[in-house]
Amino acid sequence: MRAMPKSERARFYCKHCGNEYGRWEGKCPACGEWDALIEAPAEKTGGRPRKGGKGSGSRAAGLPSLGARPKPLKDYAAERLSRLTIPLSEFHRVLGGGAVPGGSVLVGGEPGIGKSTLLLQVLGALAGTKISQGEANDERPLLYVSGEEAPSQIAARGLRLTEPSGKNGGPRYDFESDALKLAGETDLESLIEMLEEERPRVAVVDSIQTLRDPSVASAPGNASQVRECALALVDAARRFEIALFLIGHVTKDGTLAGPRVLEHVVDTVLSFEGDTRLGLRVLRALKNRFGSTHEVGLFEMSGTGLIEVPDPSSALLDRDGHEDKGAGSTVGALCEGSRVLLVEIQGLTVPVPSGGNPRRRATGLDSNRLAMLLAVLETKAGVPFGGLDVFVSAAGGFDVDEPAADLPVALALSSVATGRQIREGLVSAGEVGLAGELRPIPRIEARLAEARRLGFTRFLLPSRGRKPSQRSESGMQILRARTIHEALSVALE
Ligand code: TYD
Ligand code: MG
Repeated sequence: MRAMPKSERARFYCKHCGNEYGRWEGKCPACGEWDALIEAPAEKTGGRPRKGGKGSGSRAAGLPSLGARPKPLKDYAAERLSRLTIPLSEFHRVLGGGAVPGGSVLVGGEPGIGKSTLLLQVLGALAGTKISQGEANDERPLLYVSGEEAPSQIAARGLRLTEPSGKNGGPRYDFESDALKLAGETDLESLIEMLEEERPRVAVVDSIQTLRDPSVASAPGNASQVRECALALVDAARRFEIALFLIGHVTKDGTLAGPRVLEHVVDTVLSFEGDTRLGLRVLRALKNRFGSTHEVGLFEMSGTGLIEVPDPSSALLDRDGHEDKGAGSTVGALCEGSRVLLVEIQGLTVPVPSGGNPRRRATGLDSNRLAMLLAVLETKAGVPFGGLDVFVSAAGGFDVDEPAADLPVALALSSVATGRQIREGLVSAGEVGLAGELRPIPRIEARLAEARRLGFTRFLLPSRGRKPSQRSESGMQILRARTIHEALSVALE
């Protein structure tokens, strides 16, 4: 048994999920992880009264202690800091409309995915963009602090990234700007001093795992170190009105000490992930105090850094060509944040080897949803899947979680199981219910527009729900079905 500390001020937090507790427990009540609670350094709990820190109790960005007297809501709205435009529009959108001075963003991802490259490009693009009127602090530098690679190495990389500058309407990079500064630092106190002295407009810390707070006994990268360093940096960012970006490494299972613990500390958590095979990288918001978490940004890693992919549908479809795929392949018009993406869905069935159990595998799609669809197709539309292994995937390394993907998945699987072709030029979207009914889906107009833009000629939709306007139907044959059974007879040849 572990001794319970006597001190009333002792606080504990879970190194797995980051939740805080007043006492130690063997199992974290929030995430159920055993032996995961760590005592937080007592003198630092409830905010960090560091030098120059006023009202450090509130860690939220833009929330200095204003005294207890209430004011009208509109007075606070007027005080809001103007946001910083990030010239990389994919990054800008995922942040929910730019960076917030005083706010902190964690950018997590596996080693080698391109986090350092991405943030270096953000600084290079900021340095290369004239600051628009109304955005204050133009004199302030852009600071990249590295504890991972030597500054000379980062500088060399930056200069190599200048090539695609301004081409195709992309951002203009300026890595030779005096405003763009690099430093190598792993000591927390020195870093905070540097931030206080330099007062950068934007600071990137690469990575949070390399920092060391000498007042914490454990080694860098350890959960306590990572957490204490992040708390201090988030506090400093707020006091000095810095838009702070912390880079954090995550392992494949996402549980390494660090990023999970930090989710509670920062304002925004972005995850940079992707299919290393395809070279496509996806930036998504997992938590965002300043915007929605639905947006995704797309990038492609090239020899000269990350290139934005503003037109993901054609990038995804062109990747392997969507003509004449034969049975088992179809395109769904699916919403990802405020955008519609055309995603190719592929199905495959093979006879189960004798004596084996049928396998059901979904890649980029929810496997519970797949099991449900197979059951509905068997019972409501008479498509036999018994004795077959079933595989389905969303091409392009995408994670599709919209219910509107049901219909294209059902079409792809029915097509391959029956050997019937899907009609040429068809795109579909629709949710399938347990009774086999097709349920209405939102944003039909946007889906139609995207399908038309990419040269598709037929769109299959649920009959129920709002009818698209005449205008959005032009040049497109709209097919409607009430049930999955009807949908198959309309869509398959
Ligand atoms: P990096 O930004 O160092 O990843 P992270 O900081 O997430 O660990 O980039 C890692 C990979 O990207 C590296 O394996 C090489 C590749 N890369 C390119 O393909 N082109 C480039 O221009 C750059 C800078 C990197
Ligand atoms: Mg790196």
